Amino acid sequence: MKALVDRREATAAATDAVVTGVLERGEKETAFPRGLTKEDAAAKGLLRAAWDRREIKGKRREVTVVHRPDGHGRVVVVGLGPRGRFTPETVRRAAAEAVRALKGKGARTVAFRLAAFAQESVASEAAARALIDGAFLGAYEFLKYRSTTDGTVEEATIALGEELGRDETLLRKAVEEERTLAETVVWTRDIANLPADTASPERLAEEARALGKELGLKVTVFDESKLAEMHCGGILAVGGGSPAHPPRMVVLEYPGGARRGKTIAVVGKGITFDSGGISIKPAASMANMKFDKSGAVAVLGILRAAALLKVPPRVIGVLGCAENVPSGTSYRPGDVVRTYNGKTIEVLNTDAEGRVVLADALAYAVAQYRPDEVIDLATLTGAQVIALGDDTAGLVSTDDRLANGLLAASAATGEPLWRMPLTDFHRELVKSEIGDVRNSTEIPVAGMLTAAAFLENFVDGTPWAHLDIAGAAYTTPLTRRYQPAYQNVGATAFGVRVVTRYLMDSPRTA
Ligand code: BES
Ligand code: MN
Ligand code: ZN
Repeated sequence: MKALVDRREATAAATDAVVTGVLERGEKETAFPRGLTKEDAAAKGLLRAAWDRREIKGKRREVTVVHRPDGHGRVVVVGLGPRGRFTPETVRRAAAEAVRALKGKGARTVAFRLAAFAQESVASEAAARALIDGAFLGAYEFLKYRSTTDGTVEEATIALGEELGRDETLLRKAVEEERTLAETVVWTRDIANLPADTASPERLAEEARALGKELGLKVTVFDESKLAEMHCGGILAVGGGSPAHPPRMVVLEYPGGARRGKTIAVVGKGITFDSGGISIKPAASMANMKFDKSGAVAVLGILRAAALLKVPPRVIGVLGCAENVPSGTSYRPGDVVRTYNGKTIEVLNTDAEGRVVLADALAYAVAQYRPDEVIDLATLTGAQVIALGDDTAGLVSTDDRLANGLLAASAATGEPLWRMPLTDFHRELVKSEIGDVRNSTEIPVAGMLTAAAFLENFVDGTPWAHLDIAGAAYTTPLTRRYQPAYQNVGATAFGVRVVTRYLMDSPRTA
């Protein structure tokens, strides 16, 4: 998709559709909204007629499409919901609703009337960014395996109009930046949506190499023999069940802006398929486990965005990639594995594999790069989904400054995070009788937090934040109707926007 900025009114932009928005009207409200008059003139009074018939109520998810009698495309009015609850997220969703309503209707180009979305407490820059997000992500479809497509919007114009034209320079910069970010989310979704037969650990490594070549990033791939030399017993144990798709650890380095600047490591869980292994999952629980690589793929996206947007700090991406399947070479319940930092893991359940892989990836990242901060992203626990649902990721952190920075980035991007506690209770639960830590607990409580307590053993005191994205990483046909219009069925690439925003706002030096 292309993103453009036009100084003129949306109705002058000669696109296949003009999109505007309207707040929810009161029961007794009859006066035609002034904000719709320009579009109504283009539609020769058709909007006013729809308004008078109460067909336009301004409710969320409401989309009204009228064709301009002069033949110059359509006018689309999207509902913005109640006044006072209007936020950038409202705009993001509204833009996606509009674009989806135009899907398969031959509308290739749209112009958004920015002034209609920059109102209440939402500034023009935030509105422009949200429109770009909504348009790009709402239009997204995973097309690799489709022989036909209905076609969707391919070009979004942010039309400033007279009032906002004076902010043109600022808005052009914001739109360009957001285009890069949204386009990276699309790029990330295209990899995260690949099924496990294609997206093997080696394929993820190849994607990293190709990205590195394109953007001039240093990329290192450790294969199974190198991982053995490095004593990465965790990744090797989990990946051992799949000789056909052997494990990989992938490291990408973005140098950042300063010679001796701040370093942030971003680590991702890359289980290309999680069957549970010997502790095999029931069939229904396995259905979406090709998405268990979402954390690692998000790290690829974050490195791509960091490099394209030239974020201030140095960023190190580490992907722990393995396929978790049962076979004669699989690791077993009862096994004890030694990880990169020398700590041992008692394996009680081979389905708690993500933390075993992350143990090596985190330990390597902190020992090798001595980062000022480390952030991990992982579809780690079913308990996260039970606790927070499919929209909000769990945040666990040992560092308030880092946690608050991520929460601020979350508020700015609309990727919801909720901070959860990490206490000695959780730490006690993961202690092992036979080794240092166990990968599953005796009693089934606080699964998201005992998983975090486990990971804490591998960050060596580095300020650390853990994002459990199990619920938010993908949308299913069942959950689709509860999700915003910018989350189609399949991978969401959750984490790319919030973490990249955090990196953009991070200082160059520690
Ligand atoms: N990949 C799963 C977690 C998951 C569940 C992600 C649902 C997305 C949706 C993870 O590897 C897992 O199986 N976790 C177990 C841990 C348990 C065995 C301690 C879980 O949450 O049940
Ligand atoms: Mn598992
Ligand atoms: Zn898993």
